[in-house]
Amino acid sequence: MTTLIKGGQVLSTTGASLADVLVDGEKIIAVTAPGVFTEADEVIDATGKYVLPGGIDAHTHMEMPFGGTHSVDTFGTGTTAAAWGGTTTIIDFAVQAKGTSVLSTLDKWHEKADGNCAIDYGFHMIISDVNDTSLKEMEACIDGGVTSFKMFMAYPGVFYSTDGEILLAMQKARETGSTIMMHAENGIAIDQLAAQAYAAGRIEPVHHSLTRPPELEGEATSRAITLAKVTGSPLYIVHLSAAQALAAVAEARNEGQNVFAETCPQYLYLSIEDMAKPDFEGAKYVASPPLREKSHQTDLWKGLRTNDLSVVSTDHCPFCFKDQKELGRGDFRAIPNGMPGVEHRMDLLHQGVVAGEISLGRWVETCSTTPARMFGLYPQKGVIAPGSDADIVIYDPAARQTLSAETHHMNVDYSAYEGLEITGKVETVLSRGRVVVSPSGFSGSTTHGKFLSRGLNQYLI
Ligand code: URP
Ligand code: ZN
Ligand code: ZN
Repeated sequence: MTTLIKGGQVLSTTGASLADVLVDGEKIIAVTAPGVFTEADEVIDATGKYVLPGGIDAHTHMEMPFGGTHSVDTFGTGTTAAAWGGTTTIIDFAVQAKGTSVLSTLDKWHEKADGNCAIDYGFHMIISDVNDTSLKEMEACIDGGVTSFKMFMAYPGVFYSTDGEILLAMQKARETGSTIMMHAENGIAIDQLAAQAYAAGRIEPVHHSLTRPPELEGEATSRAITLAKVTGSPLYIVHLSAAQALAAVAEARNEGQNVFAETCPQYLYLSIEDMAKPDFEGAKYVASPPLREKSHQTDLWKGLRTNDLSVVSTDHCPFCFKDQKELGRGDFRAIPNGMPGVEHRMDLLHQGVVAGEISLGRWVETCSTTPARMFGLYPQKGVIAPGSDADIVIYDPAARQTLSAETHHMNVDYSAYEGLEITGKVETVLSRGRVVVSPSGFSGSTTHGKFLSRGLNQYLI
């Protein structure tokens, strides 16, 4: 089966050029000047559209047990919503609970995801119990294509690791060439501030943000960077939200340390003002790190331009407002932490192009090419080139749309961007050569997605 995508502007990290793309089976086999090929089993006219590599969302949580409940998107519903939004690969987190084995955790996540995804997927491993066995099991994870490990300086008693435990895992990462991903917030200090706020009767959702000040993200980020320097481990800061943390990352990168960072659309578009909405509506925006004052957004966009922020992921972790966020009415500490977003990342970052914040090339780079390289998937993923998987998005840059829970495909009862009007819309999506989204709707299947055994971070030398 061959597919010719003709007349579009093909995007890469360097910008746009008029070209045709020929697909045979699951692979791209040619990218040519317009008109070189005229025939194929299926011809898609992309005139006036962008043709870009499918998005790679390197930070999602489908069916994640957390906060006394589960994130509500299954691998099936979440990957279908991702496809609707132009994302053709996710990397989700398997979660080692304290007292359990890393490898049995990995088996469990394969059971949940294998045969149940609409697009291709990989895993990172969350290490929450550092001991001799789990450190050894990191090696087996890498053999199984799971080459990055998330640790937490937040959530004491749940996922939290001490500096000593982080040091041990980082030594293992250094030894194996794998990457430590860090949730960098000083959870010990935050828990004290949160307890004080609750005791004083400050129970509303906005106090989630007020008790997690940006300085405590900056401090933890600096500490993680220091531990990475001492051990020689590559470090990737997840969901960076604060100017203080970005400054620490930029300084380390200027010194040549293997430190990388991602941010998420919610930190670029939403703020603490959303968390202060009345009638408990602020609970919709409770995630960690929290939404910040708007002034941080300027720094984050700048970080995306300078590559101190290399990746945009969603941290998609949806909990329904009605039944789940409710758990924290009367105590903001009990609101499940997480927000939906896997469907909107490509659109929201394209909106950054429209607003002049980033270039077309940076859109593709931060949302597809760099995550592919960072997590050992390039050039199978992240680029439109002969030999690469035919994960392709045809994007209409002029279409207008309004984001809403009424029209989104995520399995959650609210949109964090309700009513937001944006320019640009996904028109057609191919996942390994198969059209999964088109103007006629979703034509994929939740058995199509394959597990991706990933290599090591390709930015390391
Ligand atoms: O609040 C968040 N971010 N929930 C998901 C878990 C995490 O820390 O990434
Ligand atoms: Zn986190
Ligand atoms: Zn997360």
